[in-house]
Amino acid sequence: MITAVSSRAEVIKWMEDFVGEKITELLKSVEDSWQPADLLPDSTLDNFLGEIKELRERAKELSYDLLAVLVGDTITEEALPTYESWLMTIDGLPSDPNGPWMRWNRAWTAEENRHGDILNRYLFLSGRINMREMEASTQYLIADGFDLMTDNDPYRSFVYTSFQETATNISHRRVAQIAKREGDNVLAKLCGHVAADEARHAKAYKAFVSKIFEADANEMMLAFEDMMRKKIVMPAHYMRELGVDMGKTFGHFTDAAQRIGVYTSADYTDILEGLIKEWKIETLTGLNEAGERARDYVVALPARLKRVAERMKVPQLEYKFRWIAD
Ligand SMILES: [Fe+2]
Ligand SMILES: [Fe+2]
Repeated sequence: MITAVSSRAEVIKWMEDFVGEKITELLKSVEDSWQPADLLPDSTLDNFLGEIKELRERAKELSYDLLAVLVGDTITEEALPTYESWLMTIDGLPSDPNGPWMRWNRAWTAEENRHGDILNRYLFLSGRINMREMEASTQYLIADGFDLMTDNDPYRSFVYTSFQETATNISHRRVAQIAKREGDNVLAKLCGHVAADEARHAKAYKAFVSKIFEADANEMMLAFEDMMRKKIVMPAHYMRELGVDMGKTFGHFTDAAQRIGVYTSADYTDILEGLIKEWKIETLTGLNEAGERARDYVVALPARLKRVAERMKVPQLEYKFRWIAD
């Protein structure tokens, strides 16, 4: 039984059955999953070259910023080894390889692994990308790692993943919409598939946090506040290109994403508002004084962020990415 003084490790252990249920409910079996090969030309077929030709014709019409955002998204997905090893460092996750937590980590990683694969393969076939430059950025990002400021804490970590999976759902979905507008239905479809995966993952991580709120509301509230005070950084915040300082390319990538409306500061606030609603923060009770202050801070934050966003201008400076071939 969970009591008010339960440690984080006890809460995480107590959630095991719940996590097991979420694996069945929100992750898909291999048999039921799409694979990159379902959506891209099949090299064993005689019409392979014809299909590539069509793919390249469509890709010619894609705008510069969209391509840049797509490459940045791909590099972010390709840094999956960083995310998996980070998950494994969260304090208190039971290490039993057959237990729900480790099964979750592996099955989540296995689903995510398809994202980098499909985006990378599309970009390779598109004829518009300097693949070596993109690959170097990926190698840099994995070697550089990240600093999410979650301190190996499960509560902070699942606030982070709840936020981040929602953000990736939004950005892949928007890229799909723009690709469709620019006439590339295949790219639109594959980004739509990736976005749908991210939506399931977001749902699961949000459910993990809801469950923690049931058992340890005060500590969960303090963890949520702490992450929002520090601000949620993107996992690729160290992104760079060859010859560019660490993190510099990332700034240009997020500028491009804002310019074309793939991910903006308004989205950041919308996600926060969604989490406040999902976790019923406004009506949260049973908190101590620090917990109540944390709740009030978080509840007031969206309005503050909106005021700041009103004063911010969308960055117009065009940047020539080494990734784009033309
Ligand atoms: Fe992903
Ligand atoms: Fe994801």
